[in-house]
Amino acid sequence: MSKILQGKHFIDTEDWADDELELMLATAGDLKRKFYRDEPHALLRDRTLFALFFEQSTRTRNSMEAGMTQLGGHCHVLTPDKLQLSHGETVMDTARVLGRMGHGIAIRNCDFGVGNKFMRQIAEISRVPLINLQCDVYHPCQAAADIMTVREKFRGETRGRKIVVSWTYAPSYVRPISVPQSEILIMTRMGLDVTLAHPPEFKLMPEIIERARANAKRSGGKFETVDDMDAGFEGAHVVYPKSWGCLVHEPDRAAAVQHIEKYPGWICDERRMKLAAPDAIYMHPLPATRGQEVTDAVIDGPQSVVWDQAENRLHTAKAIMALTM
Ligand code: CP
Repeated sequence: MSKILQGKHFIDTEDWADDELELMLATAGDLKRKFYRDEPHALLRDRTLFALFFEQSTRTRNSMEAGMTQLGGHCHVLTPDKLQLSHGETVMDTARVLGRMGHGIAIRNCDFGVGNKFMRQIAEISRVPLINLQCDVYHPCQAAADIMTVREKFRGETRGRKIVVSWTYAPSYVRPISVPQSEILIMTRMGLDVTLAHPPEFKLMPEIIERARANAKRSGGKFETVDDMDAGFEGAHVVYPKSWGCLVHEPDRAAAVQHIEKYPGWICDERRMKLAAPDAIYMHPLPATRGQEVTDAVIDGPQSVVWDQAENRLHTAKAIMALTM
């Protein structure tokens, strides 16, 4: 196992150089083959990861926990209510202590304006690598699994392929903007032609848009934004429709839901899938709200790759842990 990433934090894919991301993806592919062949790959024997979740999770939590077990180590899943955080001990003090007892810390905190700052502060004092399990700005573990999935589905021929990252309706709660932000960053970085589609209120952070533009320029890809879901879907090889909140425009959550309610027509259905390329794949980081973000016919249909995408969370999580810890 290469040592070049040992001790390195993974907060944003942009913090890793191209060759570091390629090493992670190659390692994920290797670990996936070993998983299917039932070959031993205990690369983190006797190592401990502390994974602290401020919000709920299915895929992220289980990819880390199962991943550490398969790598021969152990993952402690922690929630604030089970820690002295609930009596006011600071996260920094908690992180200092955990760093003395294990080999890695992983955190999910999507509180808007808080999560990422928090992780950067912890990264400064942590003597073990910090893995971002989703914050208010980025979801790098999701982005890693997504680019692995896109490459697998198009047999590595992704350059010049069009991906549309589109907002969808789903008023049950206000979702973070971290998935679409990490998505446009990784896909422009890897040379895809990226279209971001959303109603006017659902803009992403201006600095992320600027970085996506710069990535596209550097990689030879393209980046554009549109405010029409149909236009976004036209000719796309990858459709990535998911809901997010208008947190940049309206951080108040009750007011944000009122903006979401204005756009019930923004759903991924069979009509829209026909606007995409004939070999287009449907992706979603999950959980998807069926009947609002996507119809059953699409998510359960032949173009959907969501279960492969979810599985790749495991293989990429194992690669990130094995390389950094
Ligand atoms: N996609 C994703 O991060 O899923 P969870 O919220 O279940 O971890």
